[in-house]
Amino acid sequence: MRLFVALDLPWPLRTRLAQLATGIQGCRWLSVDNLHLTLRFIGDVPHWRAEEIDLALQAIKGRSFPLTLAGVGLFEKGGRVTSLWAGIERSPQLDHLQSKVETALQRAGLEPERRRFTPHVTLARLDQPANEKITGFLQSHSLFRAEPYTVDHFTLFSSQLGKEGSVYTAESDYSLI
Ligand code: 2AM
Repeated sequence: MRLFVALDLPWPLRTRLAQLATGIQGCRWLSVDNLHLTLRFIGDVPHWRAEEIDLALQAIKGRSFPLTLAGVGLFEKGGRVTSLWAGIERSPQLDHLQSKVETALQRAGLEPERRRFTPHVTLARLDQPANEKITGFLQSHSLFRAEPYTVDHFTLFSSQLGKEGSVYTAESDYSLI
């Protein structure tokens, strides 16, 4: 199964993010059900490994903390824009949780993640050169700032490719106290 660890977002926040999803043709906006903040992509693992991952994540002891989504940005590859995202206000607690997840997953036998953690919530996937619409999107939402919310759990998700794109299923939640 294809797995990743993420924060699922409260519904009022998802609704707020969904309001940003307009104005660019030819991009695939994520459905409101799929909006999340990835802490660690795992990829395809056999069932027995998924169980070990679950046990390792259960052993994480962490505290709940406030988080604020703010700003928008894009990722580019080879001169083409590949995603649009909402940013996160700097949060040492989020970084700390992410490093606990990373350590737990390495204990469960996964290879270390080499890429730096760049927290974001993907809003849209696309594949087009930067253009006026994209620049306009960035400009018109540069002051985007959501209400802070309390992160009180994180989640192990599985991802399956459906007819309409990926379908994410929450497999297990892990509480932060
Ligand atoms: P993204 O938000 O930057 O697109 C589920 O697919 C989540 O895992 C997505 O949020 C995606 O990050 C991330 N993801 C998917 N494939 C990945 C890969 N090969 N490497 C790193 N992260 C990946």
